[in-house]
Amino acid sequence: MESGMLFPDLPDTLSPRQQWEKLRAQLRQWDIAYYQNDAPDVSDEVYDSVRRHLLALEAAHPHLAQADSPSQTVGAAPAAGFAKVRHSVPMLSLDNAFSPDDVTEFVGRIRRFLNLPTDTAVDLVAEPKIDGLSISLRYERGQFVRAATRGDGTEGEDVTANIRTLIERGKVPATLPESAPEVVEVRGEIYMGRSDFIALNQRQTEAKDKPFANPRNAAAGSLRQLDPAITAGRPLSLFTYAVGELSAAVADTHMGLLQALRDWGFTVNPLITLCPNTEAVLAFYAQMEQQREHLDYDIDGVVYKVNRHDWQARLGFVSRAPRWAIAHKFPAQQVETVLEAIEIQVGRTGALTPVAVLRPVAVAGVMVSRATLHNEDEIARKGVRVGDTVRIQRAGDVIPQVVAVVDSKRPDGTVPFIFPDHCPVCGSLAVRDEDEAIRRCTGGLICPAQARERLRHFVSRDAFDIEGLGNENIETLFDLGWISGPADLFTLPQRNQQGLQRLQNLDGWGDKKVTKLFAALEARRVISLERLIYALGIRRIGATTARRLAQHYHSFEGWQAAMLAAANGQAEAMDDLIRIDGMGAVVARDLVAFFAEEHNRDTLAALVAQLQTITPAEATTASDSPFSGKAVVFTGTLTRMTRAEAKAKAESLGARVMGSVSKKTDYVIVGEDAGSKADAAQKLGVTVLSEQEWLRMSDSAS
Ligand code: IVH
Repeated sequence: MESGMLFPDLPDTLSPRQQWEKLRAQLRQWDIAYYQNDAPDVSDEVYDSVRRHLLALEAAHPHLAQADSPSQTVGAAPAAGFAKVRHSVPMLSLDNAFSPDDVTEFVGRIRRFLNLPTDTAVDLVAEPKIDGLSISLRYERGQFVRAATRGDGTEGEDVTANIRTLIERGKVPATLPESAPEVVEVRGEIYMGRSDFIALNQRQTEAKDKPFANPRNAAAGSLRQLDPAITAGRPLSLFTYAVGELSAAVADTHMGLLQALRDWGFTVNPLITLCPNTEAVLAFYAQMEQQREHLDYDIDGVVYKVNRHDWQARLGFVSRAPRWAIAHKFPAQQVETVLEAIEIQVGRTGALTPVAVLRPVAVAGVMVSRATLHNEDEIARKGVRVGDTVRIQRAGDVIPQVVAVVDSKRPDGTVPFIFPDHCPVCGSLAVRDEDEAIRRCTGGLICPAQARERLRHFVSRDAFDIEGLGNENIETLFDLGWISGPADLFTLPQRNQQGLQRLQNLDGWGDKKVTKLFAALEARRVISLERLIYALGIRRIGATTARRLAQHYHSFEGWQAAMLAAANGQAEAMDDLIRIDGMGAVVARDLVAFFAEEHNRDTLAALVAQLQTITPAEATTASDSPFSGKAVVFTGTLTRMTRAEAKAKAESLGARVMGSVSKKTDYVIVGEDAGSKADAAQKLGVTVLSEQEWLRMSDSAS
């Protein structure tokens, strides 16, 4: 090859693979010099020519091209990939409804929350649920300035350059009319039309590139391209259906908002319909189910949204989903396949979960080879045996499930499955509490499976969210004995530097990947208290409870001291804990049990020693609200809003809503017929507010 001139160390006698490896190693070395040490070793021309050489080799010998080849990554800064964007208004997801009953319940909940008289109609907007990926487009003073993917809802990836290619193709407006507010964030779904998808896959196949499994994957793969030139060649489209930040209101209703979006030049789905009641949305659902296969884009259900914006504002959110909207999903697609084996997985709390190992089969465009069987009762109930033909289903992002056995296809000689009574990993006895369907390994600390699962949980999205540490990597590092607890993660860089345990020596770990992981770990030495609490993987402490604990105790020190006190049997600390809204005795017991174990306290101490700052829980909103950081108890019947709405409002003003009164309570808000709690408040000298006083104070604060 002629480029021998530019890269003289590459003798022609080397095989293509050897040449490729040399080039790869050289480029990596230059990348490190350039990106990490800010000291380029070579001129751009030399670098580019060697890179072209590598690309030419890969083109001639496609088996050489690998995901970790510099040809796939060069050009990006080591933070690899897209810059992060913090959403000014979080991008939420939706709760799901799977049946008409769920939809009735959704509407009922709204009525109760808003305390609506029976003759008041709840107008709902019914929209097709587009199966794509959500995007947020920001306009300032009428100009498009930024586009971000949803990411974890709080922080997404900056795909501005990629969206500009849609602007060029006339799919997204570059500017908004003068009538639009100064700041506008438009939200919607990027998708690929079915005919566009088929044509793209044809081109992929002709070019010997891998075809995409379905339009959704094709859309995601096309948008998330570091090189926007690739996105430009992909037929992406956009439907808009919501807004994020708006510097001024544009409409009183969702229908009005959708009209504004249309007026500004965005595409809004033409099938969207205003429905006056539950019957009408269910009719819309039935109609969409029929129409589905004739549409040129995939939909996986229908979304219902409360039309009135003032009601949306009052309804607010729970966790990550609005109370004012719901996704009514289409039934999952089902297919038949053979159950080849049943494996038992051990979770982080010791739960033994049976997993069906299946003959691989495509369901809704995705290959499935494993499905959950939930627990031993479920296996018995369905009568599942190894060797059976089973019907499986997969709905959206949900884990595939075994629905039923196809009895007529049962081969001879199968036997009922006997659920193990010992942990398949550590051999400890596995027991089942009377009131539980789940059998648990009693191995606790000695069970490696539990330890590994705890680590997986620790690095997961809502916990420490450490990018670059997927399940497989955790498994490898754990099996090698390089990490056995969370603190070990943070000492990895040091051990790597000392040359003791070099990640670079492992398969699939290049310098870039290692650098990226270490940067991610470094960044997480500053962590919020709620993430830390959640990350510990204590039984029954989910993200919401972790957040409530963080808000209640505020600082790590405060929380830890209270937990230790409760574990030491101090009744006051235990009472205070149980009184946290949504806590209850069972959850409190699990939490205290965690602190009662010396090993857990040691693990926590070792972890905290590695952290730099544990940021205290933030009050949900303005700290100047009179309720910010205050412990509040509601009692009696409120006349102007429901208890649920009042609680949500208090929380949004930064209050901690408690279930009962103690001397630490700041305000007791009494409705009609208040009983013992109002008396307790008087006795303890706690400030009592009437409903009117509460309304006045909360309205002026919000
Ligand atoms: S509304 C707060 N409307 O579905 C409201 N979402 O499962 C947020 N989606 O993350 C979303 N079509 O990516 C809304 N007509 C529609 C939608 C839609 C598709 C997606 C969206 C969301 C996901 C939730």
